[in-house]
Formats: sequence, structure tokens, C-alpha cells
Amino acid sequence: MATSNLPLSTNGKSKPAQSGGLEGVVALETKICHIDGQKGELIYAGYDIQDLAANATFEEVAFLLWNGRLPSSEETEVLIRKFAAERTLPPMIVDILRMTPEDANPMAALRTGISVLSLFDGEADDSSPEANYRKAIRLTARIPVLITTFDRIRKGKEIVQPLREGSEAHNFLYMLLGEEPGEAAVRTFDACLVLHAEHGLNASTFAGRVIGATLSDMYSAITGAVGALKGPLHGGANIRVMEMLNDIDRKNANPKAYIQSLLAQKARVMGFGHRVYKTLDPRAAILREMLDDLSRERGTRKWYEMSLEIMDIMETEKGLYPNVDFFSASVYATLGIDSDLFTPIFAQSRITGWTAHLLEQWKDNRLIRPRAAYTGPRGLSTKRLNLNPG
Ligand code: CMC
Repeated sequence: MATSNLPLSTNGKSKPAQSGGLEGVVALETKICHIDGQKGELIYAGYDIQDLAANATFEEVAFLLWNGRLPSSEETEVLIRKFAAERTLPPMIVDILRMTPEDANPMAALRTGISVLSLFDGEADDSSPEANYRKAIRLTARIPVLITTFDRIRKGKEIVQPLREGSEAHNFLYMLLGEEPGEAAVRTFDACLVLHAEHGLNASTFAGRVIGATLSDMYSAITGAVGALKGPLHGGANIRVMEMLNDIDRKNANPKAYIQSLLAQKARVMGFGHRVYKTLDPRAAILREMLDDLSRERGTRKWYEMSLEIMDIMETEKGLYPNVDFFSASVYATLGIDSDLFTPIFAQSRITGWTAHLLEQWKDNRLIRPRAAYTGPRGLSTKRLNLNPG
């Protein structure tokens, strides 16, 4: 672990780390991902995100994150077959999803589903690297099935069984929509999965690594990571973006005036700003182009045009750029996906990054345990309170 540049507090007297939200703190070394926030560069294990989004599939990226190299075509085929073989949910989980209130938050349903999955995995507490690799594959295969099964049940629709072949992107859209998705939709969705797969030490990955570093199991770490992703300052932002776009549309409001009014109230505009990027998030740039193409093809330009106006006013008024959640929301909406599934979809992709970080963490584990600078009172005594008069 890199410690030389950590602003550590070693005892009560030395100067404590004063980095609010751990901004700028380098907590560990990784070979999985590099982000240059000044240049707007994102690299997965040596490959630029633009290259991967244009030329690699989600399955190839999953392999890359887990193994540090791209697979051969044979290895990709093997991985696709492994995903297909792992797609079936234990029947008890389907029963639990049937008992879940239909208005339950899909992220809460997913978090619960992942936790329950561990009860039916005989390898849940096997901490060997081989078993952990198999669990990474199993979770990646099953999370989309959890999401689509929950969604079909809550809508009173028949559950669509996963296919025994095909890509993750194809299967997800097929199980969700109950019909064969078009080739263009699968390609777009696959690229979205590539773009969301990994992003360094973001809040959910950090949460997962902290849990993993206690030598707890993969399911516990992933359950915690899903909980972190749910928050609106992290993955939950994409749902709020769509709420905002829908609100502007419903009110037939002028997007610029709407945003100016939000800023005047000191409200956060969801999908903008980033802890690391100080320029355009490269994923947002790719998603903007994808939305442009998709909305032309589908003849629905309103989200694209509205988004460009919002982007413009946010840059002028606040110097803030869109992050991954801004354009992905409109891409998913244009593909016909309900907005409360946007964050679960983020999780179905990020599971590859989370598990890659856990595999890395366990190769050379050390408990992650920072300190806090105590600012509370000292020298108080219970005697003065007369707590036990008898
Ligand atoms: N809308 C309005 N003002 C903003 C926004 C925003 N989206 N983001 C940052 N600011 C302002 C903030 O008010 C503050 O201004 P001032 O210094 O005048 O008080 C300044 O920018 C710095 O903000 P911060 O909260 O200290 O920055 P941070 O690094 O702690 O927060 C963030 C990063 C992503 C939480 C924040 O930009 C935000 O709340 N964005 C909206 C939520 C969002 O889109 N989240 C998705 C993040 S990226 C993908 C992911 O991880 O899921």
C-alpha cells in the first residue's frame, strides 16, 4: 500500500488529516484503473476508455479488469459460456422477490437479493482466489437476472428466463423487455456497460474494499458497495437526472431558466460535478455521442436537445461539466428502460470493477483502518451527573 504521501495522523498531538471527504488522499495502489482528472482521461488496466467503448465488449472488459489483460477470442467464448451457465437464480430468491412490495426501491431489492444469494452459494465463505474468481463471474451473471426478475414481478408480468447463450447486454434487454432487442440497442447497451464497469476508488468501490480488507466475504463486500452506490451523490444521481428532465418536460419549462432557478436556491444539479474530474468526464463525452446517434435513429431528440442546453448553462454559470450519470440517464430512457432501474444497471456493470478490486485487495491484504481527529470535549466526569443516586 502507498503510504508515503498519506496525510496521516499518528497520535492525538500530530497534525491530523484535514481532507474533507478524503479529497486528494491516495489510500492504496492499484493496477486496475487510472483517472487523470485534469486531462479528462480514464484508463482501465492500460487501455483508454474511448478505445474500449468503441472496440471491446463488456465480457472482454470484465476479463481485463479481473486478469489485467484482454482475453483471446477463445477465452472470451469461455467466459460467455460461464456467464450463461450461472444465470439461474435459486428458486427461493424468486419467492423472496415475489414477496417484495411492488413499490420497493429496486436498489434495496438488489441489495437484499445479493445478500440472500450468499445463503445459497456453497462457496460464499471459501476465500481461495479460485473460488473468489468464480463468485465474481456468478455475481456478474446473476445481478441482471435479479434486476429483471424483480421488475417483471412488480409489473405483474411473466418472468422471462435467461437465455443459455448470448452476451450480458443482449440477455438483460431480452429478459427486461420480454422481446428480442434490436442489434443497435444491444450495441449501445453493451457500450454503456463498458463505460460504467470501473472507476478507481469511487465511494462504492472503497466501501467494498474496506469490507473486503476485514477478510469478510465477497457477498458482504458487494452488498455494502451496492448500498454506497444507491446514494444520489454517487450512482443514484442518474435517477435524479431523469426526474429533472421529466420535470422540465412536464412543466414545459425553459431548461436554462429551470437550472438557473435551481442554482439560485443553491440546489445541486444532478449529473454535474465530480470529485476527480475538473474537466469533461470522458464517459460523458462518449455517452453524449451515443445519445445523439440513438435519438436520431429513434426520432426522439427532446432529451438530447434539453441536455445540451443544461450542459451549456452549467458550464457558463458554475464551470461544472456533466459526469457519467447525466447522459446515461437519457440513453437508458431512450432504450425504453424505467428510470428507477438506472442505478441497478450501474451496479450490474460496476460489479466487475468491485470484484476486480476485491481480488486485488486480497492478493496483498491489510486492514483499512484510518483515524479520526477527535474534536469533542474532554475531562467530563459521570460523578457530577449523579447517575446512580441509590
Ligand atoms: N450542482 C451545483 N453545484 C455543485 C454541483 C452540482 N452538481 N457539484 C458541485 N457543486 C458545487 C458545490 O456547491 C460547491 O460549491 P461552493 O464551493 O460554492 O459551495 C463546489 O461545487 C464543490 O462541491 P463539493 O460538494 O465540495 O464537491 P465534491 O467533490 O465533494 O462533490 C459530487 C462531488 C459529485 C458529490 C458533486 O459534484 C455533486 O453533488 N454532484 C451531483 C451529484 C452527482 O451527479 N453525482 C454523480 C457523481 S459521478 C458518478 C458516480 O459516482 O456515480
